[in-house]
Amino acid sequence: MADKKVYVTDESSGTQLNLPVILGTEGEPTLDIKALPSTLGYFTYDPGFAATAACTSKITFIDGGKGILRYRGYPIEQLAERSTFVEVSYLLLYGELPTETQLNHFRDELTYHTMVNEQLNHFISGFHYDAHPMAMMAGVVGSLAAFYHNRLDMENPEHRILSAKRMIAKMPTIAAACYRHHMGWPVGYPQNSLRFCERFLHMMFSVPAETYEVSEVAAKALDLLFILHADHEQNASTSTVRLVGSTGANPYACVAAGISALWGPAHGGANEAVLEMLDEIGDISNVPKYVKRAKDKSDPFRLMGFGHRVYKNYDPRATIIRAACYEVLDELGKDDPMMDLAMELERIALEDDYFVEKKLYPNVDFYSGIIYKALGIPVSMFTVMFAIARTVGWVSQWLEQCETPTKIGRPRQVYAGPVERRYRALHRRS
Ligand code: CMC
Repeated sequence: MADKKVYVTDESSGTQLNLPVILGTEGEPTLDIKALPSTLGYFTYDPGFAATAACTSKITFIDGGKGILRYRGYPIEQLAERSTFVEVSYLLLYGELPTETQLNHFRDELTYHTMVNEQLNHFISGFHYDAHPMAMMAGVVGSLAAFYHNRLDMENPEHRILSAKRMIAKMPTIAAACYRHHMGWPVGYPQNSLRFCERFLHMMFSVPAETYEVSEVAAKALDLLFILHADHEQNASTSTVRLVGSTGANPYACVAAGISALWGPAHGGANEAVLEMLDEIGDISNVPKYVKRAKDKSDPFRLMGFGHRVYKNYDPRATIIRAACYEVLDELGKDDPMMDLAMELERIALEDDYFVEKKLYPNVDFYSGIIYKALGIPVSMFTVMFAIARTVGWVSQWLEQCETPTKIGRPRQVYAGPVERRYRALHRRS
């Protein structure tokens, strides 16, 4: 496709512009429109950036039509089956799967950074007990720049990778601390003899008065969910991290902004919204009524956990989680009627013309909440789980951006306000 030319002609002036076609390694063609404003005097209008690539990236590939997701070239199905979250984190950060020595070293590094400055726990205790944990996360992660400012020279690659590892390691500690504050439990310190997800579950649920045995099934299920959520190319929160990063802001500020973007119900907040929706539907007999509401344009109700900007096919992560749901519920000996409700909703929606024509399939968030619930994670913490996993993607994308010549992100607009008018003195305004 290298010789393919796309011409844009401005008929009013007769000026023609040859737009170069950039080819991704998977062959997807993208028009390079950078020269449009300076040659033809036009900007492009693309609300929601549905047709716009804002960067080049070597990290994650998605083919939404075919339902393909790959991290650094590896299909998500293979990583989900054979890898661990820590190994996937290494892959996303460094671009290659680690050797055994590299993996052990990386695991040690993450383990070394699991604790947070004790003053941070005082900061957390300043929140009201019923604060939403995502609000706390955004504030606390942003504040890390105040605690770890001794290694924040963004021009220094060692400082950058250290900040990235600190965030991956500390995020579970902070998340558990937010939960424990809500519960009124004492701070739970990381047990470094445990593995990543075991350690997180221990920090979440152990209390001083009792011994807590981490369930292997729960840790394995969590590890799988974290792998599936680790990165998803230029989604809203990752683009936010990149946009903030393009200003030269520190990575803690970037990730705090990413957490805020993730919180929205159209994005990561959907996992919480799915459970609330299933709760509201309540019974299988009510499913048709809610599907009807989702199709009614005068009703703001949407089927949460359905649809995706990029996937116009089954979200491959949803396929994996769907199977895992059955396994986890079975292994934990839980029979959740919500699973039956979810299956019925999925069945009806997938047969319905509205959902078929608009290619609205269940997405990753449709099932993840059912597993989190089975693991005893409270609903308000669901999006926090997503944030812990996605931190790896955020920092990998941020590192990649730092290593690439980058312009500050600065979209334009179509101005639709008043044209120039004269200022009127206060007494002359009616
Ligand atoms: N229920 C009912 N109708 C829907 C839904 C839904 N869940 N999603 C999209 N539609 C309709 C929408 O009304 C529109 O119809 P029309 O063309 O007649 O106006 C059409 O489908 C296209 O929707 P859109 O909102 O223009 O599509 P988008 O790419 O801008 O939005 C989305 C994608 C994920 C925000 C949207 O599908 C949605 O709101 N889904 C529910 C929330 C959700 O599950 N979010 C999690 C996404 S996956 C995880 C993540 O990214 O964090």
